[in-house]
Amino acid sequence: MINRSRIITIANQKGGVGKTTTAINLATALAAIGEQVLIVDLDPQGNASTGLGIDRRDRALSSYDLLVASNTVQQALLPTAVPNLSIVPSTMDLLGVEMEIAQQPDRVFRLKRALTEDVLPFTYIILDCPPSFNLLTMNAMAAAQSVLVPLQCEFFALEGLSQLLETVEQVRRTVNPSLDIQGIVLTMFDARNNLAQQVVNDVRTYLGEKVYQTLIPRNVRVSEAPSYGKPAILYDLKCAGSQAYLQLASEVIQRERRRKAA
Ligand SMILES: Nc1ncnc2c1ncn2[C@@H]1O[C@H](COP(=O)(O)OP(=O)(O)O)[C@@H](O)[C@H]1O
Ligand SMILES: [Mg+2]
Repeated sequence: MINRSRIITIANQKGGVGKTTTAINLATALAAIGEQVLIVDLDPQGNASTGLGIDRRDRALSSYDLLVASNTVQQALLPTAVPNLSIVPSTMDLLGVEMEIAQQPDRVFRLKRALTEDVLPFTYIILDCPPSFNLLTMNAMAAAQSVLVPLQCEFFALEGLSQLLETVEQVRRTVNPSLDIQGIVLTMFDARNNLAQQVVNDVRTYLGEKVYQTLIPRNVRVSEAPSYGKPAILYDLKCAGSQAYLQLASEVIQRERRRKAA
């Protein structure tokens, strides 16, 4: 039986650009539409786990155990308050992964092994990466079929993007030839800021079709939600941020349909 999961990694080596917010809310929106979704939290900070209300004491197994201890996804996953959404949480143990597996010949393929050894009941698997090109991010890029890149609407948005695209190219040449770019999503857009509109125009000119139509607005409700251990979509479904993430999910699904048809 072949694995039906579509594995999407959320990556950008910059911190604070909306990776985790996008991982949580895109995953929740996909689950709300009826997809079976798994999030794998690969950041030692564990913001995706906390933002989905997973208490640190309940994280008996984590993504660390997939990478280092050869535990299975089925053993490590936990349900969330969102129907159809499960998570493999992260713990601080992840900080040690680099040292523990750096000498192993399969060090980049540890996550891929864990995500493909069993047939998993998920249609989407979303990987939330740390803000750097380390071994954790490399494991994510080796395991994923596509990369979704959040870009913050700010002056330096494009700086660093070429490095990211170059890294994706390098991953294609070495460990994962079929990796593609699912898309680029502009986050924390503030319509009152003239510069933000200019950034949107520049990014669209430079990257064209790859950029989703959906703009994620800067929205207080989105930033409050994690402190309640809830995705914005559960915390306040009607707010502009939640609505934008639902729209993003439908764009992601449309792209998947087009890709399958092609
Ligand atoms: N659309 C948004 N509106 C307001 N605040 C946001 C939005 N997206 C993210 N944030 C906030 O910005 C900070 C960084 O976002 P986060 O998703 O954690 O970024 P990353 O995972 O890339 O480091 C967090 O405090 C988050 O709550
Ligand atoms: Mg994060």
